[in-house]
Parts: sequence; C-alpha cells; structure tokens
Amino acid sequence: MADVGIFVGTMYGNAQLVAEEAQTLLTGLGHKAQVFEDPEVGDWEKYQGSYALVVTSTTGQGDLPDSIVPLYEAIRDMYQPHLRYGIIALGDSTYSHFCGGGKRFDALLQEQGAQRIGEMLEIDASEDPEPETVSNPWVEHWATLLS
Ligand SMILES: Cc1cc2nc3c(=O)[nH]c(=O)nc-3n(C[C@H](O)[C@H](O)[C@H](O)COP(=O)(O)O)c2cc1C
Repeated sequence: MADVGIFVGTMYGNAQLVAEEAQTLLTGLGHKAQVFEDPEVGDWEKYQGSYALVVTSTTGQGDLPDSIVPLYEAIRDMYQPHLRYGIIALGDSTYSHFCGGGKRFDALLQEQGAQRIGEMLEIDASEDPEPETVSNPWVEHWATLLS
C-alpha cells in the first residue's frame, strides 16, 4: 500500500475532477490518497518519502494556474531525491505552449532529483473533452507501479 498526496492546479475544475477520480481509484485499489486543492508546502513535505501525484492544467501562455503557483514557488529551491511522483498535465493543443504548466512542474522536479514514476500524461481538451476518460486508465496503470 502506498501513500499518495494528490496536488491540484486548476482554473475551472477539470484538474480537480481528474484528481478526485484518481483518489477514488487509488483508494479502491488499496492505496491511501488525499487530494490537496490550493496545496501548501506543508502538505507537500509530508510526502517526501512516499508519492506525490501532480494534476495541473495550463493557463496564460504555458503557465501554471494560480491555485498551484504558491506551491511551485515554495518548493523551487528544494532538493528532493527521495520524492517519487507522477504527473498529469491538462492542456489544449490549440494553444502554443501545450501542457506547459505540467511540463514546467515536471522539469522542476527532475532538476531536483525526484524520481518520476511512469510517463507524464498529457490530456488535450480539444481531443478529449472528458479528461477523466483518459486519466482513469492511466491512474489504474500508475497504481501498479507503486510499492
Ligand atoms: C485563458 C486560458 C489559457 C490557456 N492556456 C493554455 C496554454 O497555454 N497551453 C495549454 O496547453 N492549454 C491552455 N489552456 C487550456 C486549459 O489548460 C484546458 O482547457 C484545461 O482542460 C483546463 O483545466 P482546468 O479546468 O483544470 O483549469 C488555456 C485555457 C484558458 C481558458
């Protein structure tokens, strides 16, 4: 059984919906999972030895939503070699910086020595208007990679 903190960056609720479905799936598979809307660094630190699942959309021109910017800024100077994480990026390929928010978060964690579990999932709102139909199978597979 793994302990997973799910950290959400959203504007209109798509990423929140994906995060809540992920929590339900992970819990159903016997893991412990908690969703953090407007996540804070104190929440993040609790998962240093376990797993973080970052679920974030993109706004502006490849930017992170306001709800997750404070967390991103707070962890910016950390070194996190014990952290294992997954990332689900929501975006829209009609914009020029597709999934830029998720890609930026992933790049930061990579720089900090964290270990990504599985590939980043990129969900394109112009192809898949119901993001959970794409994320749910990904989460089920991701769950099998946790120890
Ligand atoms: C003002 C605005 C700017 C956006 N900018 C981007 C962008 O730069 N890159 C991208 O991939 N998607 C962009 N999107 C698309 C959103 O990330 C996408 O619709 C996502 O599903 C929204 O999820 P949310 O409801 O969790 O915020 C933008 C959407 C809006 C409304």
